Amino acid sequence: MELKQKLALLDDMNRSAEIGGGQERIEKQHSQGKKTARERVLNLLDPGTFNEIDKLVTHRNYDFGMEKKKILGDGVIAGYGKINGRLVYVFAQDFTVFGGTLSRANADKIVKIQEMALKMGAPVIGLNDSGGARIQEGVESLAGYADIFYNNVMSSGVVPQISVILGPCAGGAVYSPALTDFIFMVKEKSHMFVTGPEVIKTVTHEDVTKEDLGGAMTHSSKSGVAHFVGKDEDQTLQMVRELVSFLPSNNMEDAPVKPTIDPSDREESALQEIVPADPNKPYDMHEIIQKVIDNKHFLEVQPNYAQNIIVGFARFAGQPVGIVANQPQHLAGVLDINSSVKAARFVRFCDSFNLPLVTFVDVPGFLPGTAQEFGGIIKHGAKLLYAFAEATVPKVTVITRKAYGGAYDVMSSKHIGGDVNLAYPTAEIAVMGPEGAINILRRDIATDDEKAKAVEEYRDTFANPYKAAALGYIDEIINPRETRKKIINALEMTHNKRKSNPVKKHGNIPL
Ligand code: HXC
Repeated sequence: MELKQKLALLDDMNRSAEIGGGQERIEKQHSQGKKTARERVLNLLDPGTFNEIDKLVTHRNYDFGMEKKKILGDGVIAGYGKINGRLVYVFAQDFTVFGGTLSRANADKIVKIQEMALKMGAPVIGLNDSGGARIQEGVESLAGYADIFYNNVMSSGVVPQISVILGPCAGGAVYSPALTDFIFMVKEKSHMFVTGPEVIKTVTHEDVTKEDLGGAMTHSSKSGVAHFVGKDEDQTLQMVRELVSFLPSNNMEDAPVKPTIDPSDREESALQEIVPADPNKPYDMHEIIQKVIDNKHFLEVQPNYAQNIIVGFARFAGQPVGIVANQPQHLAGVLDINSSVKAARFVRFCDSFNLPLVTFVDVPGFLPGTAQEFGGIIKHGAKLLYAFAEATVPKVTVITRKAYGGAYDVMSSKHIGGDVNLAYPTAEIAVMGPEGAINILRRDIATDDEKAKAVEEYRDTFANPYKAAALGYIDEIINPRETRKKIINALEMTHNKRKSNPVKKHGNIPL
């Protein structure tokens, strides 16, 4: 065969791989408002940067007549490319080929991507759209999943792992995304569940739709499984690109600095008006965050889940950071089970990937009640305490108003390793709020007037930041208008922080 013929054969094979399950199935995919795996990969990556590997892989199954049904690529597209000029690895399940199901051969392609990413130190992005384990392959498929899970665990904390759910994701298949750092879903197009509506109907007699059970809204607001939701595929993939822009490629790198023209010494007099004079009045902590970060650019993680705490990525003088903030506008910013777990996982992610933590505190304490106690607020609240204490990245804390009780200690206080702890003059740092304290300390008081007086006295004595400042627990009381400058100074000062925890196999976070 001449070279010309050989090249023609290669062209044919490439074309065959590129058409996947065929035009009819591609059209079906499009008619459902879904892109093909190949289109998705190209949408995600910088133009012209995708290098496909294992394009000609086929399955090795001889059961159920499968030997007659071989499609090049075998239902997953894998390779590497760039996002904003930086290397990423990607795999995309191709629903047009055997429903994107996982065969041994197709799992091997994903495993190869994971291992290359680990070796080369770059993020892995998985685009999921699959009927799960390929039934014809039985335990070989389960083995393939387990190999992927194992690599997810080995890669955890070494390279960022991102899962994008763009179609069905059911059964044990959900556990690979669950082991990764972030899960993206698309409204009305993606579904995740361990057991589907039919099984649930049989076992628990509950009637539930696919969307209510495992749709994007369910997982972003009720279960907390999903971190980001896009209105369509394109927007979702753009959000993935945005997230990657905040992250280092691996745990040995610093996050990429993005030069900004937003002045580091920018003062905001509006910050003096945001915290209300009445300590019981809510305000939106987003307003403070927006006013102090670079260019108001905040990528919020899990914005619809446990809204009493805000977590997300932003930059200060170009340096990416993780922000954790109580939200007084929701449940008064109290810490409960869901908000503790949400923030703990975020803090651990930031610490794994060298992202400094900037924490804004306005917290009245932990949420009381049997639901919380029976649900295990003790162990769940401890997760956030553990995560902040264990984090060795630079930690900058700003107390805007309340910092009461155990929640004061938990929220990146000086005592658990805060590097720079700042407070507004409006800060109230004490064991509990004035009303609660007087109810316990002054059971002797009979009249409302006397009680109001005692509350006022307590407020004047304890509900301020000056006791904490006198003890050095707060490094500086700042004018709110200078918040941005003070945070940037703290981040610059802590840039070369060297701190490591005692050598151990791993800690035992209260799971
Ligand atoms: C083999 C499968 C398949 C599977 C779908 N297909 N699921 N082939 N193994 N698990 C094939 C179909 O036969 C069909 O082939 C093509 O994929 C598209 O499927 P359709 O049913 O036509 O598509 P749709 O109507 O959109 O429904 C998609 C679906 C449904 C909701 C995913 O196919 C489905 O319920 N599949 C079974 C899902 C499941 O129970 N999987 C096992 C989960 S447990 P043709 O040739 O007709 O186009 C699991 C364990 C993981 O995955 C273990 C990890 C430890």
